[in-house]
Amino acid sequence: MPATVVVSQSLFPESIALMRESGLDVVVRDSDEPVGGEGLAAMVADADALLCQLTDAVDESVLAAGPRLRVVATCSAGFDHIDVAAASRHGVAVTNTPGVLHEDTADLTFALILASARRVVEGDAFVRAGRFKRWTLHQEQLGLPVHGARLGIVGMGQIGRAVARRAAHGFGMEVCYHSRTRLPADIERELGVRHLSFEELLGESDVVSLHAPLTPATHHLVDDAALQRMKPTAILVNTSRGPLVDEAALARALGSGQIAGAGLDVYEDEPRVHPDLLALTERVVLLPHLGSATEKTRRQMAEIAATNVVAALTGDVPPNVVNAEAVDVG
Ligand code: DGY
Repeated sequence: MPATVVVSQSLFPESIALMRESGLDVVVRDSDEPVGGEGLAAMVADADALLCQLTDAVDESVLAAGPRLRVVATCSAGFDHIDVAAASRHGVAVTNTPGVLHEDTADLTFALILASARRVVEGDAFVRAGRFKRWTLHQEQLGLPVHGARLGIVGMGQIGRAVARRAAHGFGMEVCYHSRTRLPADIERELGVRHLSFEELLGESDVVSLHAPLTPATHHLVDDAALQRMKPTAILVNTSRGPLVDEAALARALGSGQIAGAGLDVYEDEPRVHPDLLALTERVVLLPHLGSATEKTRRQMAEIAATNVVAALTGDVPPNVVNAEAVDVG
């Protein structure tokens, strides 16, 4: 009997074909709406693999409902929506899709830095409202310079490094970073980056950009106290995970002029956005989790997730197992 893969939300057809051509029985739920915990539990009851999205919370109850499950393959680099410890206890491998979305996410990080600092969205709205009468020296959208500014990167994985390269080589920025593990000296030299403590980075940066995963240690990393350390001219950019930032504290800091602006692609309780953030438009730019959103990359992510499933169910070692130490893969 062929092994069964359940796909929690719509996928690209070529990735479904890839799994079927490998002899797997693929059951696709053709919807972009998450099915919820009970729905996922029902889906995995007779499944050998679950291919899910970052909007599917895969917790203990879902894992317990799938006695045959061997792999949960998420179509994302981040896997904070999966209880990896519970998966390990159940002997289920968890795989993700790193290596293909860092350049797009770094591009989008720069889009947010520029849009917020140079007030691109406000300028666009101004033109469309028919309010652009002439160039003036003191026009409304005077912004903050990006070239030559100091960028503080929090988290120096693939995305942080891709942002650092753009900043140093493309925008002549001075780049500092903070991460749990300091980079080897030769990589720091190659990237042209300087390691600082988190507190130093907050106090010295013109732009603070978050690229750390969501873990208990990074939850509300940017809170009232952190925001108070930032310069009043500084901008906060978050393209990682929303809960790294205390949104209520951020809205207060922006409203009171404690910091100058923010570019957000992710939210604490996605897709809900804190109403006080929605009310702020000056140097505040809000995007709907677009970091990896290019056609090419989204297709690659789906293909990698499908490949991970095939490998896990056909005896090969899936290349992107995040809990390899806890499960017997391949
Ligand atoms: C990921 O893959 O974790 C990203 O957040 C999706 O854009």
